[in-house]
Amino acid sequence: MQRRLIERYESRTPESKRLFDAARKVIPGGVEGSMKHYSPYPLTFSRASGALLQDADGHEYVDYLLSFGALMLGHGHPAVVEAARRVFADYGTSAFGLASPVEVQLAEVVHELYPSVEELRFTNSGLEATLLAVRLGIAASGRDVVAKFEGHYHGGHEQVLLSVSPDPRRAGPAARPSPVPASLGLPEYFAEHTVVLPFNDYDACEAILIAERDRVGVVVMEPMEAGYVPADPVFLRRLRDLTARLGMVLVFDEVKTGFRVRLGGAQEYYGVQADLTALGKILGGGLPIGAVGGRREILELASPLRTGGAVFHSGTFNGNPLSVCAGLATLKILRGPGVFDGVLQATERLRERIEELGQAAGFAVRTVGVGAVFDVLFTEGDVTDYRSRSAADKERRLTLDFLLMERGIFSKPLNRFSLSTVHTGEILARTEEAFAQSFTELREMEAAR
Ligand SMILES: Cc1ncc(COP(=O)(O)O)c(C=O)c1O
Repeated sequence: MQRRLIERYESRTPESKRLFDAARKVIPGGVEGSMKHYSPYPLTFSRASGALLQDADGHEYVDYLLSFGALMLGHGHPAVVEAARRVFADYGTSAFGLASPVEVQLAEVVHELYPSVEELRFTNSGLEATLLAVRLGIAASGRDVVAKFEGHYHGGHEQVLLSVSPDPRRAGPAARPSPVPASLGLPEYFAEHTVVLPFNDYDACEAILIAERDRVGVVVMEPMEAGYVPADPVFLRRLRDLTARLGMVLVFDEVKTGFRVRLGGAQEYYGVQADLTALGKILGGGLPIGAVGGRREILELASPLRTGGAVFHSGTFNGNPLSVCAGLATLKILRGPGVFDGVLQATERLRERIEELGQAAGFAVRTVGVGAVFDVLFTEGDVTDYRSRSAADKERRLTLDFLLMERGIFSKPLNRFSLSTVHTGEILARTEEAFAQSFTELREMEAAR
């Protein structure tokens, strides 16, 4: 990106830089996770309210990161604050360690919204949810190789930390991708026990899965790649049938798409049911949570009541009342008449405006997504999988993101845009104005080169 824009960023955000430098002394890279970094240093935020964020230097932003999509009611929604307060008022604690009366209620709500979820277990994160889903799938199928899709992210555990964002030149043929480790420190075992599939290419998936039918027990996927690239409905249905025929457990990782694409996730949108579903993010109403649910006979493998051994799963904070009650409060609001549809309509309208404004400034730009999430891609080609996604112009998008930040719009550079119930009226108008100005400046910068 242009040096001038970086300098403008640095001169606007000295306090974020100071806090980043201090953090780097005690925290690797100054961040609590690989995905929380961007160059030259990420903003530090000190306050948030509704749809707005404030950084450590006092600048205000409309938040489209929304804690990586977790905050469907925006920041500090009164119903969530009240739910958290009531947990202490009613129970006198944030955690019993064992059961509380409320986790069953949230399990029942999830079951109503996701009929494929006959039983479920809560975890503390999406990562833990997909980890348990894979373990259950291996136990249920009796086969220990996992098939995952190129470019799909399921949290940072070994079995799925392959081919998350590989360099396409190092990732083998498009129809037969090879597993590329996404981290140092991954034992060879995992590349040897992972098969990588190409999204939206049914014939290639069928050929790979039939060839590997004696080894692969679990197929895990984001039903919308990266949370926003739709599966072709026929592809998804045929994959569902194929995995059933081959005795493979199909896992939909709906940590991103759950309660965001539709209230009932991508599976509601497509009318296709997985054997197991991983959930997280919005389910906890802004507090840490995850869940794995699905077919009863698979979930029952984790029951300690089972004779002859069980799938191990436990966690100090699993089902803690703070996360569960924040989740219940959030879902109650989202299920209110017109509420979720309102977010869908706002997203639709914003996407149209962004495309109009970008095209008016002369860019081949498109928004891709379903429901209350989308990405902005500078590309002329169709976006259907990891490789077509990778062909979009990232440099231009990065520049746009820094121009938007200067005008008070934040999604984290190169990240998706998520909306919430509080992204309405003035917030959207402000966003459109910022996009209009940013596209214009982007055009001028490119013309001046
Ligand atoms: C599809 C998907 N699965 C799993 C995860 C991991 O969830 P968590 O960050 O809560 O561990 C994420 C996180 O972004 C995700 O997007």
